[in-house]
Amino acid sequence: MNPSRTAPQKISIYRGHFGVVISLLIFAVPSRAETGYEGWLRYAPINDPSIRKNYEKTLSAVVVTLNRSATGESAESELVRGVRGMLDRTERMETVLPDENAILLGTVDKIKTVIPGFPAPGDLIADGFYLKALSVGGHKILVITARNERGVLYGTFALLRKMALYEPIAGLDDEENPYAPVRVINQWDNLNGTIERGYAGGSIFWANGHIVPDLTRVSDYARLLASLGLNGCSVNNVNADPRAIDSEHIPELARVAAALRPWGVRLFVCINFGSPKSIGGLDTFDPFDPRVIDFWNKKVEEIYAAIPDFGGFIMKADSEGELGPSAYGRTHADAANVVARPLKAHGGIVFYRGFVYNSHADWHNLKLDRAKAAYDNFHHLDGQFDENVIVQIKNGPIDFQVREPASPLFGGLEKTAMAIELQITQEYLGQQRHLCFEVPMWKETLDFDMHANGLNTPVKALVAGKVFHQPIGGFAGVANVGLDTNWLGHPLAMANLYGFGRLAWNPDLTSEQIAKEWTELTFGHDPQVVKTICDMQLKSWPTYEDYTGPLGVGGLTDIIEVHYGPGIESAERNGWGQWIRADTNGIGMDRTVATGTGYTAQYHPPVSDMYESLKTCPDKLVLFFHHLPYDYKLHSGKTLIQHVYDTHYAGVEQVREFVKEWQSLQGKIDEQRYHETLARLEYQVGHATEWRDAVCQWFYKMSGIPDKYGRVDNDPNRIEAETMRLDGYEVFDVTPWETASRGKAIRVASADNRGSASFNYTGKPGWFDLAVQYYDQTNGVSQYRLLVAGQKVDQWLADDLLPSRNVKSLPNGHTSTRHTTHGVALRTGDEIKIEAVADGGEKAPIDYLEIEPPAN
Ligand code: GCU
Repeated sequence: MNPSRTAPQKISIYRGHFGVVISLLIFAVPSRAETGYEGWLRYAPINDPSIRKNYEKTLSAVVVTLNRSATGESAESELVRGVRGMLDRTERMETVLPDENAILLGTVDKIKTVIPGFPAPGDLIADGFYLKALSVGGHKILVITARNERGVLYGTFALLRKMALYEPIAGLDDEENPYAPVRVINQWDNLNGTIERGYAGGSIFWANGHIVPDLTRVSDYARLLASLGLNGCSVNNVNADPRAIDSEHIPELARVAAALRPWGVRLFVCINFGSPKSIGGLDTFDPFDPRVIDFWNKKVEEIYAAIPDFGGFIMKADSEGELGPSAYGRTHADAANVVARPLKAHGGIVFYRGFVYNSHADWHNLKLDRAKAAYDNFHHLDGQFDENVIVQIKNGPIDFQVREPASPLFGGLEKTAMAIELQITQEYLGQQRHLCFEVPMWKETLDFDMHANGLNTPVKALVAGKVFHQPIGGFAGVANVGLDTNWLGHPLAMANLYGFGRLAWNPDLTSEQIAKEWTELTFGHDPQVVKTICDMQLKSWPTYEDYTGPLGVGGLTDIIEVHYGPGIESAERNGWGQWIRADTNGIGMDRTVATGTGYTAQYHPPVSDMYESLKTCPDKLVLFFHHLPYDYKLHSGKTLIQHVYDTHYAGVEQVREFVKEWQSLQGKIDEQRYHETLARLEYQVGHATEWRDAVCQWFYKMSGIPDKYGRVDNDPNRIEAETMRLDGYEVFDVTPWETASRGKAIRVASADNRGSASFNYTGKPGWFDLAVQYYDQTNGVSQYRLLVAGQKVDQWLADDLLPSRNVKSLPNGHTSTRHTTHGVALRTGDEIKIEAVADGGEKAPIDYLEIEPPAN
């Protein structure tokens, strides 16, 4: 069953205590069955009587749709669906303006055929919309209009959003234009149905090498995108499988385009630059070779014959092992233009990715700097790209780290169209196991003044083409939704997809506005619910930063593997170039002109000067730009090392607060989303603790400087597993060492796969929470039992909330997990024992047990 198609449940049958069947009218939000599938398009019943009455009065019974196309009909059916959900009324759908009040949907030219003097705003542009309440022949007509059909659809969604947000809709005279023409989503889906950096199940587009037969979810996704004004979507990995555009797959792609089309979303496809050879049968992919030119021309014609509104290509070349123009001594402009030229005639575009760098860089060369790569590769080509090429640039110069400065390339191209690439999927930000609302982070980049043309050239204006007058440009968001019912895994993560879409439409919206809108649409209007969730969302990115990579040094995650848990030195001594250059004297890449890599010179003054000088470089990015000793005093007055310790402890405390804040909403949020979110937040406490301890232990070892408050490497409530009485267990060294408390853990080593670890409690009697930090791998489901004085107080399976499916199944920073047993009464001398049964490759590993005063 498709959950989006289920009508809101109004009547539920409750079998009372004595078997009496009672019918209840249920209006309150928590009683609706909620899975998250509907996202922000829930159209929950409006219960506030005065608001409801107001809307009922304003909205007439008839909807007239003048554009009888697939997109026109989407607008019409959406309006009916929304009004039905919110007001429990079914609009009449008509095609001719009746002799009564009506809601009139149509493009401006169609509206003028029925209201000849209709006052369309002169500055209304493509995809923009105009909502206008008029009196025509004594009837009240609410017009939803636009220059194109897509705009009419967006206007319809805007009206419904106003209603769902309880905003006034009487006497409307609202015009909205999109900030930028390009507002697209990238999905990194593989043909086999997996997703590169996807954290919410398999692909909604692909399985077993083909487009899936049932595209219902694809249509439902397109509807969500359209509701935000997003007008394009690519459906395959940027590390592109060339077969995606072979003749077998083009008809399949045409089916996807047909599912997207009613929602005004154009299909884009990632291409592999080696295609002329790999699927074209040529012995070359040199962009100057006439046969290669011919291949691309024919391929484009073949695609447009099947998909007349095809959007175009995305191309990653000469990066991370992908083939590119360097093979023939050609430039990125040559590569982009050879595919852009045939697209042009059809209105298609090429997104050429600016994410080009040498992943085999020489670590010994102190002047080398991956951050410089995008600018170095593209700046000198400015002016050489055809006009339907957009250079797509990640927000920062490295790779979606928790804190990066804006990419200098945004200020380095004046004659080239650009798009900013933002990552909705939380690759380096907790992979939808951690709460991390990215909008405030994106806003910092979008609002950052690059001083590209004197004053006031924020990144958002540059990419929208407003500064150097590019006709195309805008926003690309890597979403990677998957088959999980709620699309992104974490029930609160959809705020990132919503936020991306809203910012692409209007980057001047504040983070607070976006968080509030999303929360009201997703969870309803209870003031406590709205305040609590907004508060959690808005604090979540700084909190994630607090317990992971500080001061712009980089994410500090294991960059070789899945980019999830801590793995601090993984960044060093390899060719990937995400170096942090840490030793016992100090840390940070020196990117100054004076003594470092010279990266700061890629910015215009005064930005370059600000970053070059320690006097003006902001603390939050100081380790991105400078190599500093651990006792360096920050602008905040703290030493660098104490800042690291303090933020990491504060970060974990804040996550604990999130759990409490969320628990205060019990009963105010439907059961399913309440419990799903709670489980993730509780997991986050354990993993944030793992992060904190890994980072703090590592910095302590490197610097030799103790924590002023004595917290680091001193956990009086913690009993290390390796110090317990072991039976069937053995002690082992965890790799990397900092991902276990004191570097060691225990694992079952007995023939019968059973083991136990025990110790006697020496503290005072009382109530406690017992937290077991263990490793939950993907290659087994171990069983754990917790016993106190011989009595079993808890048991669990190690298959709770596994980190990314792609994780290598080892005990380390990715798999470290916490299970907390609340409210256990302890007496001095009690034996506390963990019994475990290992399973498969998972040897029931345990790091430590912590005895904490109860949380509540
Ligand atoms: C990151 C990510 C890769 C991805 C690449 C890209 O490096 O980890 O999976 O392919 O970005 O954006 O091309």
